[in-house]
Order: sequence, then C-alpha cells, then structure tokens
Amino acid sequence: MKIDIPEFALVLLVGASGTGKSSFAARHFRPTEVISSDAMRGWVCDDESDQAATPDAFAMLHALARTRLRNRRLTVIDATNVQPAARKSLVALAREAHALVVAIVFDLPEAVAVARNAGRADRAINAGVVSRQMRDLHRGLRGMRSEGIRYTHVLHTAAEVDAVTLTRTR
Ligand code: CTP
Ligand code: MG
Repeated sequence: MKIDIPEFALVLLVGASGTGKSSFAARHFRPTEVISSDAMRGWVCDDESDQAATPDAFAMLHALARTRLRNRRLTVIDATNVQPAARKSLVALAREAHALVVAIVFDLPEAVAVARNAGRADRAINAGVVSRQMRDLHRGLRGMRSEGIRYTHVLHTAAEVDAVTLTRTR
C-alpha cells in the first residue's frame, strides 16, 4: 500500500500492543519525528513499563506534540491510540496548529499481536490487555473521520505493513 502524508501533519499510529507500531515508526520516520508514550514513561521515571507514570508521560507527550506542531514539524504519535478520548485530545492539538491528522491503523489479527508480545524481552503484556485494545479499536474505527481525522489507512496483515511505501507531499 502506498500511503501519502502531507509534509506537515499529525500522524497517529493506532493499534494494540505488539502490532508493530514502533517498528513501523523506526522504519518510516526520523527518530525526532516520533513521540512515543513508552519513551516518555522512560523520560519521566526511567521505566518504560511503569504504568503509574502514564499521566506524566502523556502530559509530556502532549506538550512536545503541541510544540512540534507550532513549529510546523511533522509529528508522529507512537501510542496505542485505540480509545477515542486519547485520539480526540491529539486531534485538538492538531487543530490548534492547523495540521491535518492522518491515522495509520494496525488492525492485525489478535493472535499475531499476542504471539509477538509473548516473545518480547522488553515488556510483558498479557493477552487480556491486547484483547481489550482490539475491542476498543474496532468499536471506534468507523467514527474516526467524525473525530476530525482526515485520512485513515488500515493495515490488516503483517505482509501489508511490510509492503507500505510512504511518501510525503507538500
Ligand atoms: N515484530 C516482529 N515483526 C514485525 C514487527 C514487529 O516480530 N514485522 C516484533 C518486534 O520485534 C517486537 C514486537 O514484535 O518485539 C512488537 O513490535 P513493536 O513494533 O514494538 O509493536 P508496538 O505496536 O509498538 O507495541 P507496543 O504498543 O507494546 O509498543
Ligand atoms: Mg511500541
């Protein structure tokens, strides 16, 4: 799939844990373009998996996204973004900065995400968490356009994710 994004945009990666968002971000974007909720947990408390750090991490994520967008820099949010409320606050930041919002959705089979998470050394994420994230994702998918997300690209398989070519247009 060819995914075209505006040179100035807010890109939301959307998908359950283990669906390959961070891997995709590393492949297609510059490190400084990507704001990751896990990296933010690391910044605020030295532990990327410390859930108690979530409020602080998201406050920092929003502050950094707002600043980048004010500077008209392409900004990629690497977080699950499966809940409408999480997306809405990010869309609001984009609106302030007159940035278009693009979503790239990793709607991979649940079994793939669960198997990948089981093999991870960096984090322990149980199947129940993934299952809930998948449910949230599917519930909200149809409403994304009305949330203010201009373009939504949905990827359904690992092969589709691998085949993505990303271009940027002015
Ligand atoms: N992975 C894989 N094959 C891919 C993509 C990812 O085997 N094509 C592996 C990664 O090496 C990693 C795991 O799957 O161990 C999860 O990938 P990651 O990109 O980290 O997934 P995220 O969606 O970022 O997960 P999280 O929300 O938990 O950060
Ligand atoms: Mg990740």
